[in-house]
Order: sequence, then structure tokens, then C-alpha cells
Amino acid sequence: MWKIAFLFLSVAAVLAERKRYDGHKLLRITPTTQEDLDAATKFIDQRQSELDFWKLPRGVSDNADLRVSPEEYDTVAEQLRAAGVNFNVIQENLQDRIDEDYERLSNKAGKQPIDLEDFNRHGDINTWLTNQAASCTGGVQCTTYDIGNSYEGRTMRVIRIGINSSDQKPAIWVDAGIHAREWISPSTAIYFINQLINNAADATVRQVLERFDWFILPLHNPDGYEYTHTNERLWRKTRTPTDPVWDCYGADPNRNFGYQWGGDGASPEPCSDTYRGDSAFSEPCAQRVRDFVTPRANQFRAFVTMHSYGQWWFTPWGYTANEVPRDYDDQAAVGEVVADAIFAVNGRSYTVGPSSILLYVASGGSDDWSYGSLGIKYSYCPELPDEGFGFEIPREYITPVGRETFEGIKAMANEIWTREGLGS
Ligand code: ARG
Ligand code: ZN
Repeated sequence: MWKIAFLFLSVAAVLAERKRYDGHKLLRITPTTQEDLDAATKFIDQRQSELDFWKLPRGVSDNADLRVSPEEYDTVAEQLRAAGVNFNVIQENLQDRIDEDYERLSNKAGKQPIDLEDFNRHGDINTWLTNQAASCTGGVQCTTYDIGNSYEGRTMRVIRIGINSSDQKPAIWVDAGIHAREWISPSTAIYFINQLINNAADATVRQVLERFDWFILPLHNPDGYEYTHTNERLWRKTRTPTDPVWDCYGADPNRNFGYQWGGDGASPEPCSDTYRGDSAFSEPCAQRVRDFVTPRANQFRAFVTMHSYGQWWFTPWGYTANEVPRDYDDQAAVGEVVADAIFAVNGRSYTVGPSSILLYVASGGSDDWSYGSLGIKYSYCPELPDEGFGFEIPREYITPVGRETFEGIKAMANEIWTREGLGS
């Protein structure tokens, strides 16, 4: 009895500590004409620093998403109407979805095998990686690499999967979860891992395993990811202490990489959600990825770092919109092959092109670094879909998103294989 009461109290204490979003709404702004888009863009430019925009529109008939607190709602709605901007409320209360996930997940933590149709905790994912690697069969070889610890001491585990693996074989890097709250990204990486290991009898899976070694890091930012489970669902950055006066934490690891670090679109303010960090590679998780990938740069034919959301297949550059890379034609052509393969599965459209031109300029991204510093030609930053739920995409979409993205990534691998003459 006492034990039960204690358990109840400690669960309540954990829940009480979490930041809540009661009554926070997600507004979707949907411009349908150029005029609408201009009005929306003006509003976004004016208010971007104070309001929490989750997504910006890529053009006419694409949406912008905005989270507003109950206190902000009336004013923001009034201002949007006055500016002639159409919007609707796509989530009435973000806390409802958040609670649903937390409650369900609390019963699953610490169990093996992990539920592939749900979101999982960092420690459980790591254990699962080790168990999967040990169970590889049918000529598939699996190795795990503990590439170092995050700031808070969590092990960053990479799995390599291939047939006739070797240090000379062409390889593909995939990472996920560099931004903590983008939960559909690690779940998609886990979908890939499971397919590569447990569906290797499928001819298309076998082919990409024969052609490439796959190196997959499902959680690039484990401290931030765990924090989204324990404290704040919408946390984005790492958890390194940054500003003692304001009590701020975390740098944006996707502004912390060392190619054109500190340029446009990366904040010097420690409290900002896009804080670039003290210096390039100040964040331990970014250092670990740098130190693991750099010595293998010649082996990697592609570098894919998965985010959510927006249905974009981004190519470099992120840091500047003034020029496109020398390899842009090839990068974009392979990107279009990916988009077609994704579309063929569930009819979902992706837009291919440089993030700086399609979205916004942002420097210090890992994709710019892998291409600019390491010369990995096919460096991509996909933004997975959200199905109208923002970061809180329900678990029902894990499998459909995983399946279509995996088709896209296999098509990417094969297109690179042919285009670069890797078979000859
Ligand atoms: N939404 C992503 C971010 O803000 C896009 C990054 C694209 N790549 C880049 N190098 N800017 O991090
Ligand atoms: Zn992101």
C-alpha cells in the first residue's frame, strides 16, 4: 500500500515537473494567392522573433504553422485577421496529444524489444541496437560503434549494417534526432535499421546492403531527446549550460558544425533556439559525429541527416542563398529520384532544393559541413512529414512514414550507384 502510494507520488512529481502546453493551439496559415502569401510573409517577418513559428511556407498553397498560448491567442488572431491572413486552428490543445504520448510511453519504457510502432527512450534504443547487431543473420553483418558520450554522458551508438562489409566499401551515413523534439526522425531511422536487418531477404533490401555499408545513428542529440520525454516536449537544442545569468541551456547542434560556422541564420544569443554555440563543435554530440565521420569521409557516398517537418528534401547550401554548389545538378537530380520514389508509396510530395533558398538561410548545419568540409557530394537534410500534427505526430504514422522514406533512401542509394559508376 505504501509502496503504491509512493509510486503514485513520484509519478505525479515527474509529471508536475514537465512544462505544460494547456490550451496552446497550433494555427495553420494557408495562403492561396500571391497576395495572401505576401501578407503572411510580412506578418511572419514582423513577429518571428516573439512568436513560435514551427513551419514557414514554401510558396503559394503551402502552409505556415504557429504555436500560440491561450494568453497570446486573441491578439494574434486579431492581428492575423487585420493583416488579411487566412488561418485555421489545426490543434486546439497541444497538451492533449502530449499527454496521450507520455501516458502510453510510461508503460513501455525499459522493455525489450522496443515497440517499433511507437516512440522509444534513448537507453532502450541503445539496448535494442546491441541486440539487433548480435542477431544479424543471412549474410548480413552488423557492428555497433559507441562513438562517445553526449554532454550529460549518454552513449552515442552507431550501427553499421552491410553484406561483405569492409572499410573500402562505399557507405551511406544516416543520422536522426539532431533536433530533440522531431520524434518522427529517430523512429524513421529505426524503421530503416529494422528493414535492413530483418527484411534482408527482400531483393531490393539485399541489393542496397550489397552495394553499400549503412552507418546509422538514430539519436544524434540524446540529451535533448531525453529532455523532451522528461521535461519539455518541445525542446530542440542540446542541454549544455550556456548562460548562467538567464539560466539558459543548449546550443542548436545544427548551427554548431564547422563549415561557415557563425554566419547568417545562427544566433549568437545563448538563450535562442538557434544558438550556434560558443565555437564551432562546442557541443559534444557534434564533436562525436565529426570525429567518427571525418576519417571515413572517402567511404561515404551520401550523408543524410533527418529532421521534421515540412516535406522537403534539402540539398546544400544552408549558409547562403547567393550561390548553389558546384555539384548542384547531380545533388538535385538524385533528390528528385528520391522524391519520386517517396511519392509512389503514399502519394506524398516532397520539394527538392537548397534549404537556404526554399526555407531560410542557416549556417553551421551538418549537411553543409559534410559537403563543404568533407566533400561528401550527396549531402541531404530531409524534413519528414507531420500529417497536420507538427512535432506531435501520432504513432500511427511511424510505419507509413518509415516505409515511404525507406523507399526514397533505397532509390537514392541506387541512383548514386549508377550515376557515380560504383559498379564498374
Ligand atoms: N530546419 C532545419 C534547421 O533549421 C533546416 C536545416 C537545413 N540545413 C542547413 N544547413 N541550414 O536546422
Ligand atoms: Zn530540425
